[in-house]
Amino acid sequence: MGTLDGKVVLITGTGGGLGRVASLAFAREGAKVVGADIQIEANNETVELVRRAGGEMTGIAPIDLTDPEQARKIVENTVAAYGGLDVVYNNAASLRFGPMPDFSVEDWRATITGELDIPFFVSKFAWPHLVRRGGGVIINAASMAGMIAGEVPPMVAHAAANAGIIGMTRQLALEGARDGIRVVAVSPGPILTPASDRDLGDNQAARAAITGKTLVKRFAQPEEIVELVVFLASDRAAYITGANYPVDGGATAW
Ligand SMILES: NC(=O)c1ccc[n+]([C@@H]2O[C@H](COP(=O)([O-])OP(=O)(O)OC[C@H]3O[C@@H](n4cnc5c(N)ncnc54)[C@H](O)[C@@H]3O)[C@@H](O)[C@H]2O)c1
Repeated sequence: MGTLDGKVVLITGTGGGLGRVASLAFAREGAKVVGADIQIEANNETVELVRRAGGEMTGIAPIDLTDPEQARKIVENTVAAYGGLDVVYNNAASLRFGPMPDFSVEDWRATITGELDIPFFVSKFAWPHLVRRGGGVIINAASMAGMIAGEVPPMVAHAAANAGIIGMTRQLALEGARDGIRVVAVSPGPILTPASDRDLGDNQAARAAITGKTLVKRFAQPEEIVELVVFLASDRAAYITGANYPVDGGATAW
């Protein structure tokens, strides 16, 4: 018996590093997973992996979640397919890095849209369905960048967007409590995903600069983030709402 047996879970960004591992973990715990991504092939691969592991997953791609109408569509499709919705994991994001003042207005807007609009849009359209269900859970992927400044790489819009996600989490928790909706943020430190591993290559200086702020002096594995997300989504976490959980190897402790 899984901790999420029968729950309908919408996960965004399921073609990516964390989204793929999250899909596998949620399905392993008995959830019916709907996964949306802008990338068709990567999303299909995730669906394939989940099904091969014996889990239940439906993929919806391509879908651009910066467009509110497309965000509405995946929510409506999920509810139509499974008769309701219990959990939303707002994991998808697209972002840009760069130092001031080279960081353009367009870079700023693209990051705020890619990191802050997406979880707002999906939460907004999921909200009435969670209310109708008698409650549910929204988990927002934030970042330690929403809690402390980061030197490598320069990240003004990323920092602002993730502080925004943490603030939005508190506010939605307050507004959702009367309807049984819990809202929680998870703020990872640096995670080694297939994409980040490939991008960093053998640049040991960059790897050391990124992991140097953690106390454990290493990247997280996606599983180390996702296991907490699965717990927060389950009824075992019924007393947890409005909180932000750093999973950052101690980076925000000093
Ligand atoms: N990787 C890290 O070190 C790290 C650290 C802290 C927080 N996070 C957060 O964790 C989450 C997942 O990160 P990841 O490393 O797996 O990233 P990733 O880039 O591997 O995955 C993100 C996924 O979102 C999808 N996506 C992006 N824009 C989209 C859009 N407009 N519509 C639909 N799908 C879209 C991408 O196609 C991709 O598959 C993000 O919210 C990120 O900010 C990651």
